[in-house]
Amino acid sequence: MDKPFQQIKRLGYVAIQVPDVDRATRFYEEIIGLEISDRSDNAVYMRCNESHRCLALFPGEPRGMHHLGLEVSDKNALETLRTHLRDMDVNTEPRTWSDPGIGDAICFRDPNGSLIEVYEGMKSVDQPLRASATRPLKFGHVTFMTPRMTESVTFYHDALGFRISDTVEGELATWMRCNPDHHGIALLAAAKACVNHYAFDIENWERLKHCCDHLHRHKVPIIYGPGRHGPGNNLFIYLPDPAGNIIELTSELLQVRDEASYQPQDWPNVPRSVDVWRALMPPGHFLEAEGRDFNDWSAGSPVIGSGWNVMQAGEFMAMDPAAKITAPNETLPEFKIDIPKFTLASKDALDHAKAMILSDRTFPTGDGFSASAEMAVVVNGTDDNPFGVDPNDPRLGSSALLVIDDCTGLVMNFEVSNRRVMALRERFAIAAPEATGSVQPFADLSLIDLQIEPGSWHHYELRYLPGADELLSPGPDRAQWLVDGNVVREVEWVTTLQPPRAPIIKPIRFRIGLGIFTLLDDVPDGQGGMISGLDPDYEQTIFGQGVTARWRNVQFGTGLF
Ligand SMILES: [Fe+2]
Repeated sequence: MDKPFQQIKRLGYVAIQVPDVDRATRFYEEIIGLEISDRSDNAVYMRCNESHRCLALFPGEPRGMHHLGLEVSDKNALETLRTHLRDMDVNTEPRTWSDPGIGDAICFRDPNGSLIEVYEGMKSVDQPLRASATRPLKFGHVTFMTPRMTESVTFYHDALGFRISDTVEGELATWMRCNPDHHGIALLAAAKACVNHYAFDIENWERLKHCCDHLHRHKVPIIYGPGRHGPGNNLFIYLPDPAGNIIELTSELLQVRDEASYQPQDWPNVPRSVDVWRALMPPGHFLEAEGRDFNDWSAGSPVIGSGWNVMQAGEFMAMDPAAKITAPNETLPEFKIDIPKFTLASKDALDHAKAMILSDRTFPTGDGFSASAEMAVVVNGTDDNPFGVDPNDPRLGSSALLVIDDCTGLVMNFEVSNRRVMALRERFAIAAPEATGSVQPFADLSLIDLQIEPGSWHHYELRYLPGADELLSPGPDRAQWLVDGNVVREVEWVTTLQPPRAPIIKPIRFRIGLGIFTLLDDVPDGQGGMISGLDPDYEQTIFGQGVTARWRNVQFGTGLF
């Protein structure tokens, strides 16, 4: 074959299809700092520098890439490519939209069906741009997900002259360049072909910091980052657009100045490759190319209406089919769980967990860790109480704020009923290394007879402080339970595994949960165990009591207290 075509000059722009062009346009103006440069065929063209566009927004559903614009330097290069594609039996197709800002073009599809437009002659726009804190320098790159990695890499190499910059374990990911930028195209192995994200280049770290502040002010979540990628060495943050596309804002991308000496690296498939600072994986929805809407709290939205700070959460779990979980919205910025009545099953120790909202990220404990929320609980529906149990017994239906360490199985918990509060420290073997599938006898609860009015809001906070370790013996860990800022319980302990696998095991990362629980059957002390008055032979009993629990202002923090 002839020498591969080598004249793609740059990634010019990406054209995105969105269901609401006006809403998307406002977002890219206000949040990303782009300006409208043109309109045509209901499409909006936007720019960040003197070039006619770095982004085009086309109306349509489903959201995703409409086409990708690659630029060649002149008409000759375009004709060379036309011949080259013909020689390679690549079918070209006519451009189906009128394009106001660029010259001649060739359109064709890559092995994943993505429409590629190679064009020449992008217009310049003379008018100065308004000042903006967040304006990118240029369009950066696009990252595709593909079930055809080898074929795709071969196509971008042979047909368009992209060179491999780096890979992950051979075929899991490939970054390719057409100019000194380490990557203009990236490919991630996946079951389904789609765009994962597209990136705009930001001037430097300082400017990226302004972007983060700007996003925070405008209530747009950062779904991953800030961080630094291994391949490309670039700083990154990822955020969703209103249609659910994922945008990357990036800086300090590695420049390959010397093609002759550059050696691609094959990176290991470990979290530290994608996030060299913290080794955190992106959230699950990121890996499915789902940016999610900002009003979807589970995407990690930092603020939904007033009163919300940080809650990175992603999984609802309603174990009881009667449980109704309501996510916060702009008019009611609260999590709420309603359970009209409970089904109790004494044979299943885990049955006491009725509904749970669990963070999908874990937070490092660092030098200490705190999780807090305001919580209000109403117990109701006691008319059908068949055994005359005290409806204020918190064991019979309580709202909880809890933190869980999946590594050790440690759980610290506030359980709050009508008027009474329990503070617990438990360990669940289910997630611990010696998993047996049962609750281990590590419970350590205390019933605090705190008088609270039914339905009243109180602020609950859990603190964990890891003890300093000696050479041969572990230092004691400490936990505190605070209600309205006052310490109501404090515990110190040394955690070891039984049988010991290592001399010390400490929680390293917590996830936060909000949930409703009943009964603590297996807690072997005077305050837990069987609830007096309840049928001792019950196996599956409908009990009339229900609970409505509400949480707001959920926060976490790290550091010493
Ligand atoms: Fe990227």
